[in-house]
Amino acid sequence: MADLSLFDLTGKKALVTGGAVGIGRGCAWALAQAGADVAIVDLDETTGTKTAEEIKDRGRDALFVACDVSDKPQVQAMVARVVQRFGRLDIAVNNAGIGILGGDEQFALEDWNKVMGVNLTGTWLCAQAEAQQFLRQQPIEGKIINIASMSATISNCNAAYNASKAAVVQMTRMLAAQWGRCNINVNCISPSYLLTPMHASTPVVVRQRIRELTPMGHVQRPEDLFGAAIFLASAASNFVTGHDLMVDGGHTLNAWLVPLSRDVPPRVGPEEETVQLKHDLDALGFDYDADGINPDVHPEVANAFKAAFGSDP
Ligand SMILES: NC(=O)c1ccc[n+]([C@@H]2O[C@H](COP(=O)([O-])OP(=O)(O)OC[C@H]3O[C@@H](n4cnc5c(N)ncnc54)[C@H](O)[C@@H]3O)[C@@H](O)[C@H]2O)c1
Repeated sequence: MADLSLFDLTGKKALVTGGAVGIGRGCAWALAQAGADVAIVDLDETTGTKTAEEIKDRGRDALFVACDVSDKPQVQAMVARVVQRFGRLDIAVNNAGIGILGGDEQFALEDWNKVMGVNLTGTWLCAQAEAQQFLRQQPIEGKIINIASMSATISNCNAAYNASKAAVVQMTRMLAAQWGRCNINVNCISPSYLLTPMHASTPVVVRQRIRELTPMGHVQRPEDLFGAAIFLASAASNFVTGHDLMVDGGHTLNAWLVPLSRDVPPRVGPEEETVQLKHDLDALGFDYDADGINPDVHPEVANAFKAAFGSDP
């Protein structure tokens, strides 16, 4: 008989960076549903506070903590603030990340440093401060989940973004090797293309292409990461460390020789794909069309797709 209490997070104290919207908000919500109290850590105070209030409305403790994850003093103060409120820290999801579009022949050094500063240095600074906190507690243990990307494995954006995510995967392995002796698990999750504000400007034609190239047949939603997040945060994964859990509906299987025409409809239809995206855009104050698209959220993404696919977003 399976022991489902393995997945129970009741009484656990968690933080999620970049938790205001998108994947971070989804992970925060998943941890709260499994029983954890959650700190939402973000640059965006207005939206982050709303997300924390939503978690509180559903019966868990939550707070917003303003922090730029690429700044060491802010990261140290953030962990201290979470512990001041919750008394301890058990779970950390290091999710805050950015992408800057641009071909590598012209990519600015300043932009390279920004991407690396948030995605790689920010994740490392958070993991370090979180591990220091785990070592101060009794019993000494903890769960760190870094949000990497399938971009660590495939080539789909640019050198800065893809290299930053590949580095997060390898950093995760190294930290896992070092901190296993302290009962600290360090793993990462690698999603594929998700409908979050980062992709709110992705046009319908591209979403359809993603569906066609994804064996599970739909574009990923934050909800599709809930199981992975709860697994890696809970006792169910106590013997799993240094792992990169690919949650991509099979997209990176590169199944272009396999017929991807479907025998049955996908579990999730196009309308359901955008439920959280629309909620996030409401929270951020953006309008959107029936498909949850607003080219103005990331005009550079909309323009890049227009150039590549020759259609209006
Ligand atoms: N959306 C995707 O398709 C996708 C796919 C794979 C991996 N990812 C990764 O998942 C993570 C979240 O992506 P998303 O799509 O939800 O992004 P998003 O842009 O929709 O949301 C990111 C959140 O992080 C916050 N943030 C940005 N920089 C920060 C900083 N320096 N300090 C603190 N907070 C900061 C933003 O304010 C925002 O609330 C990122 O690491 C991203 O690279 C995204």
